[in-house]
Amino acid sequence: MSSADNTKLQFEIIARDFIRAGDAAATIKRYLGQHGFDPELVRRAAVAAYEAEMNIVIHSRGGMLTALIEPDAILITAVDVGPGIPDIPLAMTEGFSTADEEARRMGFGAGMGLPNMKKCSDKFEISSQRGTGTMVRMTLNRHK
Ligand SMILES: Nc1ncnc2c1ncn2[C@@H]1O[C@H](COP(=O)(O)OP(=O)(O)OP(=O)(O)O)[C@@H](O)[C@H]1O
Ligand SMILES: [Mg+2]
Repeated sequence: MSSADNTKLQFEIIARDFIRAGDAAATIKRYLGQHGFDPELVRRAAVAAYEAEMNIVIHSRGGMLTALIEPDAILITAVDVGPGIPDIPLAMTEGFSTADEEARRMGFGAGMGLPNMKKCSDKFEISSQRGTGTMVRMTLNRHK
């Protein structure tokens, strides 16, 4: 056990707010770094959280990002209200993106976020309902 165990870090993510976008993931990364987590695990958690946060900002109408630190794993959950993803296998394909012009001008829209989240996770779950919203749940094991 460590002092970080069973900590819940939760953030409201505002759609289209490109000023604060990334702050939640940065806070999660800083917390893990300051609590002595393995740097490689911190890196994976930071990438997974950042990509999930940006997808809420860019593709949804707003949502929540949560990091739950358990003794054996870090659970990162992104839940949003929005259009949902009509074709999940297509959305998971590297290079597929529906990002709009504004997001692309800021460097987003490579279509790499979801594939990267999956790569960074030991377990990756995504569910979505058209016209309602999307949930992504990622489990990162703390011990190999
Ligand atoms: N939360 C979401 N709500 C609705 N659609 C989403 C959501 N997340 C992803 N998508 C859809 O899946 C596509 C692929 O997402 P992914 O994160 O891989 O790429 P991207 O966000 O378009 O670009 P990048 O992440 O490389 O900046 C998006 O373009 C969008 O169509
Ligand atoms: Mg993305």
